[in-house]
Amino acid sequence: MRRLALSVLALICFILPVRTSAQSPVAQTPPMGWNSWNYFSGKVTDKDIRDSADQIVSNGMKDAGYIYVNIDDTWQGKRDANGVLQANEKFPDMKALADYVHSKGLKIGIYSSPGPKTCAGYEGSLGHEEQDAKMYAEWGIDYLKYDLCSFIPAVMQKQAPDDKAAQMHLMIAAYDKMSKALKATGRPIVLSLCQYGWDAVWEWAPALGGNLWRTTGDIQANWNSIYTILSQQEGLQKYAGPNGPNGGHWNDPDMLEVGNGKLSRAENRSHFSLWAMLSAPLLAGNDLPHMKPEINAILTNRDVIALDQDPLGKQADRVYSEGEVDVWKKQLSGGAVAIAILNAGSDRQSTHPFHLDTKKLGLRGTVKGKDLWTGKEIEIKDNMPIELNGRDILLVRIDKSK
Ligand code: GLA
Repeated sequence: MRRLALSVLALICFILPVRTSAQSPVAQTPPMGWNSWNYFSGKVTDKDIRDSADQIVSNGMKDAGYIYVNIDDTWQGKRDANGVLQANEKFPDMKALADYVHSKGLKIGIYSSPGPKTCAGYEGSLGHEEQDAKMYAEWGIDYLKYDLCSFIPAVMQKQAPDDKAAQMHLMIAAYDKMSKALKATGRPIVLSLCQYGWDAVWEWAPALGGNLWRTTGDIQANWNSIYTILSQQEGLQKYAGPNGPNGGHWNDPDMLEVGNGKLSRAENRSHFSLWAMLSAPLLAGNDLPHMKPEINAILTNRDVIALDQDPLGKQADRVYSEGEVDVWKKQLSGGAVAIAILNAGSDRQSTHPFHLDTKKLGLRGTVKGKDLWTGKEIEIKDNMPIELNGRDILLVRIDKSK
């Protein structure tokens, strides 16, 4: 008994210092916020970030859960004689900008690359990882997107020209290095890996402290891109969830294009619904000061956001497809489920509606649910006909009957 007590004590003494020195976990649910790239790309300025932060507060997005305001590529200037990276003329004072975003009750994110240059050709972090991480922490940065880009030719292909495996080891080591540098600052910082899904990133990113990782190449504001990326998420469910080494760990099918380009209302709604089903990070990427009310309503639909932010953190599965109709199911906490029926095609003739097979969804008999886009109750029956416009979606939450 005494020996047992001593061993328990020893175990506690061993665990405690590790626990107390570790940072509080971040991103226990998929991160929500806004990122500058999809709309502003290389033109983003300090003013755009401040304006976007103001809008997030005034348009209801903050209350709906959008917290991170993330500066993507093109903020960087040159390094000074001590190697300290300066922001460029578009960003006169990064610390003041971070303070401003924080003063709104929001968090701020930044962007860099493990290579010498970022994707847009600005200064990367190669050889300055600790220095940059320290500077981010001093500025009060809460989130880092770390984008592979020039690391591929400058390091991977140069150091291991004909050895793919060695190249991948170099890549993993580069992400590990930045993760350790961020940890060493003592500030909880979300780590977002951006290397387009190479080398089954979902298998190794959580262990090195990654909170999210891009699973594909870049998204674009058109249906083809959105649907292609959606189809590439199958099989990745088991890698997403809360409670990893650095908090939550999520597959990232890339930032939202809701409200961008020429996406129709149905396409915007489907895109948002499906990203929520996927437990994807919800990072809006549109022009917030000029957002139409219909886009605001999509981005702040609390019922849809609740699917994404469900504490169970289970990513949806595509249960079956029939022609151009896909049926997805997401397990939620408390025994609830969400089902999404997507007409991925551009049209559907009313003479041959889709009939839902509830057995495939594991539903028994007739069940009542909530249509999350109309807000109305809906009865789900086996073999029921479902008529959907092109690229539109029926999204239903079914709570466990008491
Ligand atoms: C890559 C990333 C994008 C964006 C740009 C910036 O293409 O995948 O999300 O960050 O770089 O240059």
